[in-house]
Amino acid sequence: MPVQDLDKIFQEKIDDEIKIEPKDWMPEAYRKTNTRQISQHAHSEIVGMLPEGNWISRAPTLKRKAILIAKVQDEAGHGLYLYSAAETLGMSREEMINDLHSGKAKYSSIFNYPTITWADMGAIGWLVDGAAIMNQVMLTRTSYGPYARAMVRICKEESFHQRQGFEILLVLSRGSKEQKEMCQDAINRWWWPSLMMFGPKDSESTNSDQSMKWKIKRKTNDELRRNFVDMIAEQIKTLGMKLPDDNLKWNEKRKHYDFGEINWEEFWNVVKGNGPCNKQRLDARKKAWENGAWVREAAAAYAKKKASSPASGGTKGGALVAA
Ligand SMILES: [Fe+2]
Ligand SMILES: [Fe+2]
Repeated sequence: MPVQDLDKIFQEKIDDEIKIEPKDWMPEAYRKTNTRQISQHAHSEIVGMLPEGNWISRAPTLKRKAILIAKVQDEAGHGLYLYSAAETLGMSREEMINDLHSGKAKYSSIFNYPTITWADMGAIGWLVDGAAIMNQVMLTRTSYGPYARAMVRICKEESFHQRQGFEILLVLSRGSKEQKEMCQDAINRWWWPSLMMFGPKDSESTNSDQSMKWKIKRKTNDELRRNFVDMIAEQIKTLGMKLPDDNLKWNEKRKHYDFGEINWEEFWNVVKGNGPCNKQRLDARKKAWENGAWVREAAAAYAKKKASSPASGGTKGGALVAA
């Protein structure tokens, strides 16, 4: 069948809300965009474990420690679902990891900011996981089947992440003068970077139109960002804190909050690798990969041994090939 016809059938499926599955024909650019997006999402989950992992040993109570461990472990699980989803498009996990380590593949810039106080655990859960949910709820309806299904499971855990973050801040906001200040300081530092998580403005977002047509995404960066501001501007009232934006104001005509301009210079600077913790994060990932080499080797050797043992039904001396 000529490519134009395949392309037409493909687009009709998308328009009819039929999911695209790994063995279906798809345009190369669709495969490439999804591979890039899903693998970068996977990298973000895994790198995202680092700033919070920093606080596991310093959590203020046993209960907080148990919750934080569970949360960070959830993020590892999200990374694994997503690497598996990306692999269905034909790229190996090793290749994806190599691209992360070489700097060819990106991850969310938000994780290049440092976690300075315990209140940062609250601000990350509330704002960073909160911003991620906006994006991920939309992605439960993305057109590529394995990605959409992974998102359904992930979103359930993300809403727990957001609530636990908000609750950390709620306790601090009702605490001593120092605790209140710590809470406000964390909000001040995480607010703008969390708005940057939605990416460049629609007018400057290069992939946006095609991704909307292919229903990889269903809302634009600006729409998602606006929904996020509307949600947080209301929730912060419960905390009795302030968002660090003098231009934040309800606009009765638009039925949305107006807000100030993002510092785009800072945004691009962190994307390009010059944020406060870019090097530290990548170094930590590379070190973890190197230290895990013996585990991968042992697992591969065990799998090979099992496959060649007659008791397991494997073929002697040969690898077991999945049908
Ligand atoms: Fe996650
Ligand atoms: Fe999360």
